[in-house]
Amino acid sequence: MEVSYLLAAAAWLASPLALADMNVALLDNKPAFIADVMRQMTLDEKIGQLRLISIGSDMPQPQLLKEIAAGRIGGTFNTVTRADNRPLQDAAVKRSRLKIPLFFAYDVVHGHRTIFPISLAQASSWDMDAVSLSARTSAMEASADGIDMTFAPMVDISRDPRWGRTSEGFGEDPYLVSEIARTAVHAYQGKSLAAADSVMASVKHFALYGAVEGGRDYNTVDMSPMRMYQDYLPPYRAAVDAGAGGVMVALNSINGVPATSNTWLMQDLLRKDWGFRGVTISDHGAIAELIRHGVAKDGREAARLAIRAGIDMSMHDSLYLQELPGLVKSGEVKEPEIDNAVREILGAKYDMGLFHDPYRRIGAAAGDPPDVNAESRLHRAAARDVARRSMVLLENSKQILPLKKAGVIALVGPLADAPIDIMGSWSAAGVARQSVTLYQGMRTALGDKARLVYARGANVTDNQHIVDYLNYLNWDKPEITQDKRSPEAMIAEAVKAAGQADVIVAAVGEARGMSHESSSRTSLDIPASQHALLAALKATGKPLVLVLMNGRPLALNWERENADAILETWFSGTEGGNAIADVLFGDYNPSGKLPISFPRSVGQIPIYYNHLRIGRPFIEGKPGNYTSQYFEEANGPLYPFGYGLSYTDFSLSDVKLSTRTLDRDGKLDASVTLRNTGRRDGATVVQLYVQDVSASVVRPVKELKDFRKIMLKAGEEKVVHFTVDAEKLKFFNAGLQYVAEPGEFNLQIGLDSRTVRQQSFELR
Ligand code: BGC
Repeated sequence: MEVSYLLAAAAWLASPLALADMNVALLDNKPAFIADVMRQMTLDEKIGQLRLISIGSDMPQPQLLKEIAAGRIGGTFNTVTRADNRPLQDAAVKRSRLKIPLFFAYDVVHGHRTIFPISLAQASSWDMDAVSLSARTSAMEASADGIDMTFAPMVDISRDPRWGRTSEGFGEDPYLVSEIARTAVHAYQGKSLAAADSVMASVKHFALYGAVEGGRDYNTVDMSPMRMYQDYLPPYRAAVDAGAGGVMVALNSINGVPATSNTWLMQDLLRKDWGFRGVTISDHGAIAELIRHGVAKDGREAARLAIRAGIDMSMHDSLYLQELPGLVKSGEVKEPEIDNAVREILGAKYDMGLFHDPYRRIGAAAGDPPDVNAESRLHRAAARDVARRSMVLLENSKQILPLKKAGVIALVGPLADAPIDIMGSWSAAGVARQSVTLYQGMRTALGDKARLVYARGANVTDNQHIVDYLNYLNWDKPEITQDKRSPEAMIAEAVKAAGQADVIVAAVGEARGMSHESSSRTSLDIPASQHALLAALKATGKPLVLVLMNGRPLALNWERENADAILETWFSGTEGGNAIADVLFGDYNPSGKLPISFPRSVGQIPIYYNHLRIGRPFIEGKPGNYTSQYFEEANGPLYPFGYGLSYTDFSLSDVKLSTRTLDRDGKLDASVTLRNTGRRDGATVVQLYVQDVSASVVRPVKELKDFRKIMLKAGEEKVVHFTVDAEKLKFFNAGLQYVAEPGEFNLQIGLDSRTVRQQSFELR
């Protein structure tokens, strides 16, 4: 493979067409080389580079090739094979005047051909090796299909599960999401971005997209600067600091100014404060949407606002192409402003190694895989490994799990044999027929040791309006197949199956489209059709195990009361069925923890663990009147942030501090002894929280500051150490200075955010 890349590169460089008049001798000096290319570019060619084309939706192939050859396209996205990309790259480097290579991008969010669990699931692993394995494997698979850049990681903090894109992010906590952001960028980009198996990470959506009002997609964001800096911006910053080559800009406005025309966001914060040196890309059609936001009266003004704000590339709309020549002519946009954008785009291409070899990831035709979906191209073991590390055991009241591989098991539910849904949304180039469903996974695990009876039991929903919506949403073809039988007939069949069984496993939750872009919900309940099925199953009196598949926190009051066990599996990917079976039958002991709080009802939203302190807090067990609470139901989350059970038990000792007074330049060691008191080996996550007791501004009740995932054999114990220094105690004060203020702090260690052991110390 390497050799074919090298041959292609050598042939390209030797060709009289190659690099036109570009100075190959300058190739190893990035600024000089790019300056030399730009010196030769006409204004139109520069503007052409700012255009990112959506393959399949923007124009037919013949026109696309013409536009590329005319130097009017800088990059494309949505192609998924080398054979797709080669003719496009040929048009750029063999037919355009300056032979500037294109780059090829794609939404590789949780896997490319092999689909890993969705991002929210990966966050539930609290395991940076798992996150890294997913992103590195994705980079290898995507680059082997000729892709240079991914629109990932998506690190929008989400505290409103009504928002369908909660599934695409890593949860509610700035610290955890920042750790993941850093890990993912390193894994996508590898040791060198120019390597043939690296892809450039374009972190998204900058910024604050997860805070859309009411969880309604594309809605407004209005937020105090302190909250922004403290809670929502850190993950983007972590990705930038980790070297992400790209930043995709959010669709929403921020305090009245759309991100796409937000000079403060794009220049003052991103470039000047954070020192970002890379390419900025608008989201799909976002420049034209400035007109709908009501900040631009027409396309011309929209283009002017976006380029002047610092949006280098325009995705999907052609406004830069149409309007920038006139804007430069009239002097409303200066050519150096366009040069700044072009320099970043060419810089990104340079960093991806494309000037050295435009075919670095496309390779030679002779090396194309005969079958892009060949089994041998998948990384099933990695996907299964990450999937089982991502599952969260929510309930296991009578130790019903793990199940024995014996007797009769009834498997029911619309998601039990759902190869499309198990992939989750944004499943890149994954194909459903390669997914292992729960039914298949359990079959394989059981062999002939036990009998598995299956009944679908219900449709995901019987609401035709929702079915139509989901079918129309995004996919190439309708993907919800409704069972035409009556709900009663389906339930009767499931109840009959349950009647023969020793235990029922019910796979319920959401269709994948329900947790997707543009899929905001007003309810967090399991849809009525499935709820009716669960009620009927409960009435059989047989032990009931719920396997949840969903992309957001759900309100699970009934389920918690009525199920004997609940396993949150999210959308677990290509190997989901095998991974779930591993957990159900105890071949893997679950170790995931929630990266987001689960509310009791939609009315509690927003509910997140690290909320600010208030003057009249509700205190568990005390009368609620004149405290901050809802009076119709219990307060607090149903399942708190950081929560998750295991098949074994763990105990934590009291916290020991090495000192009670921490000097500003000193360090404090906080330790606990973690013991596996049960009878199985298992892993758990030890979590460190800090509360600033009194500060110049109101501070959160607690904040995650560190964590460790620890594996212990049955009966084993281990002392877990955390180091705390002044850096960990810093926050953004009212003047947005990042400071640690002297005074008392409570340090808490626990296995979730609610049940903790506490000690205090003073920062001097
Ligand atoms: C989404 C982005 C995505 C882009 C390209 C947009 O609709 O908001 O997250 O990267 O499409 O597919």
